[in-house]
Amino acid sequence: MITWIRGGDLIDPVSRKREALDLIIEGAKISRIVPHGVFQEVRPHIRQIEASGKLVVPGLIDMHVHLREPGHEYKETIATGARAAAAGGYTAVACMPNTDPPNDCRAVTEFILEQAERAGFVRVYPIAAISKGQTGEGLTDFGDLKAAGAVGLSDDGFPVVNSELMRRALEYAPFYGLRVISHCEDRNLSAGGVMHEGVVSTQIGLAGIPDASEDIMVYREISLARLTKKPVHIAHVSAASSVQLIRRAKEDGIPVTAETAPHYFTLDHRRVMGYDTLAKVNPPLRTPEDVAAVKSGLREGVIDVVATDHAPHSPLEKDVEFDRAAFGMIGLQTALPLTLELVREGVLELVDAINKLSWAGATILGVPGGRLVEGGIADLTIIDPDYEYAFEPDRILSKSKNSPFIGRKLKGIAELTMVGGRVVWEKK
Ligand code: DOR
Ligand code: ZN
Repeated sequence: MITWIRGGDLIDPVSRKREALDLIIEGAKISRIVPHGVFQEVRPHIRQIEASGKLVVPGLIDMHVHLREPGHEYKETIATGARAAAAGGYTAVACMPNTDPPNDCRAVTEFILEQAERAGFVRVYPIAAISKGQTGEGLTDFGDLKAAGAVGLSDDGFPVVNSELMRRALEYAPFYGLRVISHCEDRNLSAGGVMHEGVVSTQIGLAGIPDASEDIMVYREISLARLTKKPVHIAHVSAASSVQLIRRAKEDGIPVTAETAPHYFTLDHRRVMGYDTLAKVNPPLRTPEDVAAVKSGLREGVIDVVATDHAPHSPLEKDVEFDRAAFGMIGLQTALPLTLELVREGVLELVDAINKLSWAGATILGVPGGRLVEGGIADLTIIDPDYEYAFEPDRILSKSKNSPFIGRKLKGIAELTMVGGRVVWEKK
């Protein structure tokens, strides 16, 4: 089977080029990349995909999702999450270990990979727990988890409280080619809090989570990375104070990388004013100043990656009092259009936006993809950057509908998603 993607603008996030190029795909691989008009063959077995006016980009790679299987299949399964990912333009996602049981051993890692294989759609890369049972007490077997297919280590959902344990994780992980991803939260400071601690939490009478709860742990991870000379990745950066610490650490040559999620550069704590539990997330939506700092961090390369932190929850956890609701929001089908908003605002160049949605995360995890090259795997996304629509629940393919962006006008959509030469999503 030969596929000819013709007439589009191909984006290479590494050389930062946007060029008018056609792609020829044979089997799972890209066989040729040529200027428009060079490839002319029309034979019955060649499938043509018209991409004029569209962007052809490396398949998006999300290094931070929660797929809820095993254990919470009523919120999401690997199959429903992988399908939502494909619809969002993703060709690969890395799933966090806070399932039930948590992914802290070979059996769970292998189960996730089997379910992903069965589902098809996109590549699913398991991130395994740092500590046994995500309890913070004793490291998991990194070698065994790597052999089973884990691509990274994180206790996401929970901080690693014990600094000595984190130090050892940082020291051992590179030996197995695994990156440590830190959920930065001081649980003594955040305890009882349900939103950002600030003027809005005071006004509406909700207990706050101060930015210091995040930046204290960001600083600890930077300090341990400096001590050990081993890399650490900071998950879901939300606070200006964290951005500043990471900026300085990078200037000092400390091996730290960071991600944020679209809600942290799109929404602020005022979104919580109507006690809408869809806006409850951890870390919380912060102030407009924090939002501005996250955008500067993205523009300056302080924040390397845009991940979704896709966190599905059912009405059982969300249609309750704000204090009792679960933290988290889905994000797989809104990340691309919300990141394109930053391009239209002039915060990011298009090539850099695509980089943060694909290449950057792939590089940190050491997984394939993130670039379209001759001989390379055909994982790609065709984007219609001009398509405008309201984000309504009937578009949501995730099993859970907990998005604070429902009703929002969006621009830009994944029109087609291809994994290994196979079309896994096509917009109707
Ligand atoms: O809001 C969040 N939801 N933050 C986390 O760290 C975990 C996640 C979840 O698993 O629901
Ligand atoms: Zn987290």
